[in-house]
Amino acid sequence: MATREIHHSSKKPVASTYSIASRIILSLLCLAFLLLCFSLFRNDAALPSLTYSVLPDNSNNCNYTNGRWIYDPTVRYSPRYDHTCKEIFKGWNCIARNKSNAIDIFKWLWKPYGCNLPEFDPLRFLESFRDTSIGFVGDSLNRNMFVSLFCSLRRVASEVKKWRPVGADRGFTFVKYNLTIAYHRTNLLARYGRWSASVNGGMLESLGYKEGYRIDVDLPEGTWEKAPSFHDILIFNTGHWWWAPSKLDPLKSPMLFFKKGVPVIPAIPPDASLDMVLEHMVSFVKEKARPDAILFFRTQSPRHFEGGDWDQGGSCSHFQPLAPQEVRHALLFVVEEFFSLKNNGTNVETRLVYEHLHEALKGSSFRILDVMHMSEFRADAHPSTAGGKGHDDCMHWCLPGLTDTWNDLFVAHLNKIRVRD
Ligand SMILES: *[C@@H]1O[C@H](CO)[C@@H](O)[C@H](O)[C@H]1NC(C)=O
Ligand SMILES: *[C@@H]1O[C@H](CO)[C@@H](O)[C@H](O)[C@H]1NC(C)=O
Ligand SMILES: *[C@@H]1O[C@H](CO)[C@@H](O)[C@H](O)[C@H]1NC(C)=O
Ligand SMILES: *[C@@H]1O[C@H](CO)[C@@H](O)[C@H](O)[C@H]1NC(C)=O
Repeated sequence: MATREIHHSSKKPVASTYSIASRIILSLLCLAFLLLCFSLFRNDAALPSLTYSVLPDNSNNCNYTNGRWIYDPTVRYSPRYDHTCKEIFKGWNCIARNKSNAIDIFKWLWKPYGCNLPEFDPLRFLESFRDTSIGFVGDSLNRNMFVSLFCSLRRVASEVKKWRPVGADRGFTFVKYNLTIAYHRTNLLARYGRWSASVNGGMLESLGYKEGYRIDVDLPEGTWEKAPSFHDILIFNTGHWWWAPSKLDPLKSPMLFFKKGVPVIPAIPPDASLDMVLEHMVSFVKEKARPDAILFFRTQSPRHFEGGDWDQGGSCSHFQPLAPQEVRHALLFVVEEFFSLKNNGTNVETRLVYEHLHEALKGSSFRILDVMHMSEFRADAHPSTAGGKGHDDCMHWCLPGLTDTWNDLFVAHLNKIRVRD
């Protein structure tokens, strides 16, 4: 650059002075570089810290949502627990059930763009969350996550007391740390039960309804009613049961919504009623939770049925996570394989619930634990034919497996909250 400018002005003596000066500078730079390299190789400890400072350390405002799954063949065993953990529901124990890729499932590591999601350290977790009580409130997918956390902690803390807070399905206290974790089962969050027409008639009877499910949108289910006043940290979820046509059949057993004890007429579709339930549950929790409670709502866990729904012979025989182009996001791309409404409505609720949650939780004190996108890739991580049911299980997750990463995310969020406080 300098040489060319000088040629243009054709002042040769100056040019040679310049080139001598630039050669000296260049030599000094080379020497400095060599010295730097030398010091790096001599002092091993300097290497990681240099690498660290070259990458921006933005882990504090990292967006864990966006990333990719990287296969790490050096992972030999599940890092935190194995298939002998007694709490693993047998249909999720893919190693014991010989699912062919059961060991590969946990060799895939989630790498957010621009930062790392660290694997949480169970011992450090127990130590820093002494005298704490953590409640998982939701459907079996939250139980799946609860089991992963239990097994991880059980590995490093053997003295465990079975103990259930009011309404909980299962619960344990890690005695040495006085840390309790519990699972409160609830499918819709709202209270629900069988309904059948009364001989005395009524609004629904006059519309021709004979039987169905009564869902009280403004009442929490008894299983978790007391949970907000009990736990210090809560993780909620709901979703699959709002679009479970063969469980809550829209014709034979329709969902009949009630508010203030009377039927909501005209009947509303599940997504409108989900909004009503979320609104009521958010304010219920706000009223009942402890003042310093930490509240999470986990986003929807995707299903991966192909060729039909769970009761129509749908399957998920994948041995690797899906490629990015197979899980394109609705907002950015037109083509969607798995989660498209066009795919016979098989896995539709995933993104529907996501949208509803975001709307409902805006401005509330809930933090969103966003597992949806990372999980959308993991068509390989379901029990599939190893689920031991009459059909393939493309909804729950093998353990050890994906929900271990959800817990990494959960703990990363908790640690951030702690740092800020
Ligand atoms: C993280 O990324 C997702 C997807 O791009 C986006 O929807 C979300 O708002 C981001 N979260 C934050 C806290 O920026
Ligand atoms: C898994 O394989 C082992 C060893 O071959 C066998 O003993 C066990 O019965 C198998 N389990 C199932 C559920 O097939
Ligand atoms: C154990 O932890 C609970 C919170 O989960 C707390 O209320 C209780 O006081 C703790 N017990 C002791 C002995 O510190
Ligand atoms: C959807 O259902 C139709 C009719 O049952 C079937 O022919 C078609 O293959 C299905 N499509 C997908 C993507 O599963």
